[in-house]
Amino acid sequence: MSALREKKAWRALEKHQPDVAKHHLRDLFADDPGRTERYKAEAAGWHLDYARHRITDETLKHLFALARECGLEARRDAMFAGEKVNTTEQRAALHVALRAPAREVIKVDGENVVPEVHAVLKRMAAFANEIREGKWLGFTGRPIRNIVNVGIGGSDLGPVMAFEALRHFSDRKLQLRFVSNVDYTDFAEAVHDFRPDETLFIIASKTFTTLETMTNAHSARDWLMAAAGGDKKAVAKHFVALSTNEKAVEDFGISTDHMYGFWDWVGGRYSMDSAIGLSTMIAIGPNAFRDMLAGFHAMDEHFRTTPLEKNLPVIMGLLGVWYNDFFGAETVAVLPYEQYLKRFPAYLQQLTMESNGKHVTVEGATVDYNTGPIYWGEPGTNGQHSFYQLIHQGTRLIPCDFIGFAKSLNPYGRHHDLLIANVIAQAEALAFGKTLQQVKDEGINDELAPHRVFEGNRPSTLLLTDRLSPTALGSLIALYEHLVFTQATIWNINPFDQWGVELGKQLALRVVDEIESPRKSLSHDSATNATISWYRKARSK
Ligand code: F6P
Repeated sequence: MSALREKKAWRALEKHQPDVAKHHLRDLFADDPGRTERYKAEAAGWHLDYARHRITDETLKHLFALARECGLEARRDAMFAGEKVNTTEQRAALHVALRAPAREVIKVDGENVVPEVHAVLKRMAAFANEIREGKWLGFTGRPIRNIVNVGIGGSDLGPVMAFEALRHFSDRKLQLRFVSNVDYTDFAEAVHDFRPDETLFIIASKTFTTLETMTNAHSARDWLMAAAGGDKKAVAKHFVALSTNEKAVEDFGISTDHMYGFWDWVGGRYSMDSAIGLSTMIAIGPNAFRDMLAGFHAMDEHFRTTPLEKNLPVIMGLLGVWYNDFFGAETVAVLPYEQYLKRFPAYLQQLTMESNGKHVTVEGATVDYNTGPIYWGEPGTNGQHSFYQLIHQGTRLIPCDFIGFAKSLNPYGRHHDLLIANVIAQAEALAFGKTLQQVKDEGINDELAPHRVFEGNRPSTLLLTDRLSPTALGSLIALYEHLVFTQATIWNINPFDQWGVELGKQLALRVVDEIESPRKSLSHDSATNATISWYRKARSK
């Protein structure tokens, strides 16, 4: 048995789970209405309400004990101190340095990295301002109006999510689009109505080797060259790079003057507040970008200094472990009741699943417990008319994170009251449901009654704040980053590598070569050989 399952607190939780499982949230509330007051916490302007969880004081006691037994505080401090917590790549994971105020000192290999971070931010701000003020001109002398971020994974999902989230604060004179898929349709649709001489491409790639991004970047350069009559000098006016790989950027033809760097201690999915956030900064301006960084930092400080019992990322992370490992829950639904957060669930999928989708411990032993759950979701209220049926009446336990704001950025009539009424009602319906007796009392006949019963007892978290702003977004993202870290620490896995994406990449390179060299003999399994043969024929018909 693994060391984790032998821990005192883990065993206590195993023993305790049936006591909790046999109680309905209705009973937990009836017996202890004061739980609402106790099961709440605040940080960086966010209010966490976790009263509707299948927990008691004893559950929490064991969960916090588990966190301590797993050394969460020490591991957290090691991360903040720049230790090489990403052990399989021998790197620090110091995204917290990206939002550290200039006066702070955070060292990697004995060197303070904070001044470098601020130097890059300063250069980014100067460039962003030139674009925003119409001073950066394309090859015909027209100002840049269109910005296309070309990247994938962390070099796309963060920027696109942040742009959508903060669109309200963005400069509407500028058009921002995002190209990620190697499917050329993505590129073609992104630029179809753009003038090349008004378009800037931001090639965002930590490694500057990612197949999708480099393929799209070359197509973007072809598109520009076709319009610029092959004049290579146009590249300098229309391409900038965000990367850690200076040489590859230069080889592509982008001078380092037009490169904004970051460092190997910034993971792709933790990079939207690094140079990778250039599109965000262009859209909302350097001041609002700084506000976003301040939001991140406020949550970092909360996570770093607040006792576990009042620590939002820790509480949420531990509740996730409780359902994942002791109730067999397989997924978590993230349900932002804010249209601007429509890409937030997609962003969280990479953050959570690329981080905690691991089957071996830090030491390389196969785990005998479940690690990262599946994250998914849609903005409310759309999801209510689609998959909420399953959450309410299906057979699976799906803990839900509801995210809501007291004020709308586009207030009009009753819209916002209706929106928020729905968050509150959903959390209530999930927790308390509707009994058979209640259904019958409503006059529903015996035949139909079972179909109208809501079991309830479905847990949810409410994350609430005043309004969506750059600051609120920053702290929300940092909250989930540290939640992921908390869980990884409990599961004793490395949340900062992603070896699981490699095999598919390698095989794709081999397959593409075989597709493009039709005489090459195939030596895969029979299914793979058959599909390649089908495509070889089908593509040339
Ligand atoms: O999917 C694997 C991955 O390495 C992600 O972790 C990363 O965000 C993405 O590819 C893009 O990588 P890069 O920024 O190097 O192009």
